Amino acid sequence: MLRKLRLATRSLAAVWAMAGAAILGDAQAPVRQIPVPLPPMGWSSWNSFSNTVTAQIVMDQAKALSTSGLQKAGYEYVNIDEGWWLGRRDKDGNIVVNDNQWPPVGLNDKPGDMTSIVNFIHNLGLKAGIYTDAGMDGCSMTPDLGAPFRDVGSEGHYEQDFTQFARWGFDYVKVDWCGGDKENLDPAVQYAEIARAVAHAEKATGRRLYFSICNWGKQSPWTWAPHVGEAAADIWRTSGDIVEPIVAGNIHSDRKASYEKMLANFDQGIHPEAQHTGAYNDLDMMVIGMPGLTDKQNRVHMSLWAIAGSPLIVGADLTKLTPATLEMLTNAEVLAIDQDGAGLQAVKIAEPDKGVQIWSKPLARPGGRAVLLLNRTDADRDMTVRGSEIGLADQGRMQARDVWSKSDLGTFDKSFAVHVKGGDAVLLVVNGANVPPVQFKPEGVGPGKPLCHGCDYRFSKAGAHAEWARIRITYVNPDRAPRFAELRVNEQTGARIAFPSTGAGSGTVIVQAHFDKQGATNVLSFSPSRDAMPAITAIDVE
Ligand code: GLA
Repeated sequence: MLRKLRLATRSLAAVWAMAGAAILGDAQAPVRQIPVPLPPMGWSSWNSFSNTVTAQIVMDQAKALSTSGLQKAGYEYVNIDEGWWLGRRDKDGNIVVNDNQWPPVGLNDKPGDMTSIVNFIHNLGLKAGIYTDAGMDGCSMTPDLGAPFRDVGSEGHYEQDFTQFARWGFDYVKVDWCGGDKENLDPAVQYAEIARAVAHAEKATGRRLYFSICNWGKQSPWTWAPHVGEAAADIWRTSGDIVEPIVAGNIHSDRKASYEKMLANFDQGIHPEAQHTGAYNDLDMMVIGMPGLTDKQNRVHMSLWAIAGSPLIVGADLTKLTPATLEMLTNAEVLAIDQDGAGLQAVKIAEPDKGVQIWSKPLARPGGRAVLLLNRTDADRDMTVRGSEIGLADQGRMQARDVWSKSDLGTFDKSFAVHVKGGDAVLLVVNGANVPPVQFKPEGVGPGKPLCHGCDYRFSKAGAHAEWARIRITYVNPDRAPRFAELRVNEQTGARIAFPSTGAGSGTVIVQAHFDKQGATNVLSFSPSRDAMPAITAIDVE
């Protein structure tokens, strides 16, 4: 252990020397922004098929995803949710599935072998997702349809089950919390253990498993779920289901999704300090294309998920989408906001009257913002976007574009106003000049001063122009895998940040933090999270 630490210290010292030279050599050279994993896009079986899911349904949906234009737009995951497994294991504890539900799909396939459906999905150029529970029993104990089933959770079998999923070829796993909740388990502890079991499965099989946490916002997952268990990327649900399943031709088929519940899920999903470097608040599967919302409301729904940078998982039956719905789900300019490379979430920057809200999501392009004008009242409103409020320089000119109507609104100084109908929203991309950031170097470390593995990096005089600061972190991580650090602002609980490999050079990632003190008096610290820290050479605060 000591040797490992010494080696890590030595390699960090070398890294520091490299990074210091690069930064001192050319202080103005832009440092490369390191790409972070983006929010996943795809489809899930739950909302429209509940636990009636079968191989035939999954094949039909995968084909529809592929032929409808959704795949081309970026939707890639075909996720099999609850109901695929009824709690049977063999004498060695391996999951056994029902042969009739999962018959062979390919000519030489065997019944009851999930590899068969995975291959079908992969052959369309798509990725496959699977589902389990963190506890012993899953949500099947209180099924929406059909009889209850015990023991459909993975507790006691984490490594075995996740390795099995990866061997079958799955690319994504959603882990629910019905069993964990029933047993009063601690989700922060449990999901960290699960993340390590996922990492074990990845190592054993060489297959990457995307990690989706589903505990409905219980025990504030945004405080512990980002990169939990050193996951390179993950998502966590922040609220309950928008809608109970609506399965055509079955009981409850008259259910409808509610606009108010969709808005409530948006509100509960806003935790910008936790969303960065590949970790995302998950607002739930979208209900666009399901019974309930009007076209206008669906467009607002899509705008909210995009500005929040939420995973975009469609819950509707893909074989029945109308052309209008498909157009909405595949609008490239809207999707680009969700999938922006900085991986950040919107913050609310103004609410001049109750329900009249302006949201701004910083984009990776310098001076780029997505801006949502959300009118939750019944009356039409003129809403004013001020450059200074979205962090753009006062003197600079701003260009604004409406991404739904695909029209340029023009070039403006300082501010512009937009008419927003009652119960509607306007989604814009605004480009201007960023307010110049202030750069800080870490205190107590640097060339000539020893770099201490395991020490905090501290910046004690940070200020920003607004409550929400954007912090661009310049760092070096020569490893192939990400390194991690905990960020604390004014000694408050921090967020775990991932620092992907920078290779031989240095790079930046960007996070948002809430500065609760005015002026240059906020104290930031980055502490090691379990293992080696990246070498942090500077932060730029806007
Ligand atoms: C929970 C989840 C849903 C779905 C169901 C399955 O309610 O939040 O998304 O997975 O379980 O039973």
